[in-house]
Amino acid sequence: MGNLNSELFAAIDSVADGANEHQLAVSVQELMKKYRSRVDPRDIVLASDTDVIAYAAYRLPATFAAARSAFEAAAAAVPGFAPATHLDVGGGMGAAVWAASDAWPSLRSTTVLEQSAPAIKLGKRIARRSTGTAVKGSEWERFRLTGAVPDGPRVDLATMSYVLNELTPQVQEEVVRSLARRARTVVLVEPGTPEGYERIIAARKHLLAEGLSVAAPCPHGEACPIAPGEDWCHFSERLNRSGIQRRLKFARLGFEDEKYSFVAATSEPVERPANRILRHPQKRKGLVSLSLCTTGPGIEERVVSKRQGPSYRAARKAEWGDAWPPPEDPES
Ligand SMILES: C[S@@+](CC[C@H](N)C(=O)[O-])C[C@H]1O[C@@H](n2cnc3c(N)ncnc32)[C@H](O)[C@@H]1O
Repeated sequence: MGNLNSELFAAIDSVADGANEHQLAVSVQELMKKYRSRVDPRDIVLASDTDVIAYAAYRLPATFAAARSAFEAAAAAVPGFAPATHLDVGGGMGAAVWAASDAWPSLRSTTVLEQSAPAIKLGKRIARRSTGTAVKGSEWERFRLTGAVPDGPRVDLATMSYVLNELTPQVQEEVVRSLARRARTVVLVEPGTPEGYERIIAARKHLLAEGLSVAAPCPHGEACPIAPGEDWCHFSERLNRSGIQRRLKFARLGFEDEKYSFVAATSEPVERPANRILRHPQKRKGLVSLSLCTTGPGIEERVVSKRQGPSYRAARKAEWGDAWPPPEDPES
């Protein structure tokens, strides 16, 4: 298999190259406006060929990066899990399809459920350019969710990335519960905003109520210790912006930080870390402060000093979202 990451970006570039950039820029402004507020569940946001190319160019690299990070955390917490079958719901142009194949190369078949015909057409076109088995062979079905996902064979993995915001709370619950019954592992990703986190926390409760265990990001299976309304659990993934992404967003910086919230739950045995780092570590001379979600469960501010030798060296390298202590550093 080639490098899925570069295959995806090459495919997006070639699609965007053939489009009218002014029309794409107009569509990007409209899409940004809609996604900044709560999407009306009756609306199909990705309605035209221009919309879906615009989304692929300005947004898909970021949703792909967030989904891949969430899936990597899930894969680390469920080490024996080698999924072959995958269902992606609200797949758009396939960000989670590509990201799942990157995180789990064992995947052999993927089915995408999506309501937008232009999204399906473009998603298929991009996927056919992949050398990855599950991506290239992915099956796309036009389907509008109004409750539980349709009955079908059990799958190893179910994913839903940046979709809950477009469903009513009742449909969110029905979809999430049905995914928990249909799949061995479920991973849900949302924007890393207070509202995105609230949707993830509600979905987490539904997954646990259906008998799954939390795999990531939480180091525990109890209620989230973050006080409602005071803070929100989210992570950040830095990605380089392509030329077209910069032009369409009128952006000067060559990179962006995609903030996301997620939950992974599973019926497989889990190996959760002792703690998860919840913020950028604060690094000062001789000291590193870590904000940790702990097994307790609880939130703890831990200071690691230079006198702690190996722990300090590990803390200097630690990043927001990492497990703590790092798996290769049992002394921390
Ligand atoms: C923000 S896009 C995310 C696309 C993709 N999952 C990603 O991460 O880039 C939301 C997607 O969910 C789809 N969607 C929203 N509501 C849906 C529904 N009721 N049934 C099926 N698909 C839906 C939209 O058409 C769109 O493709």
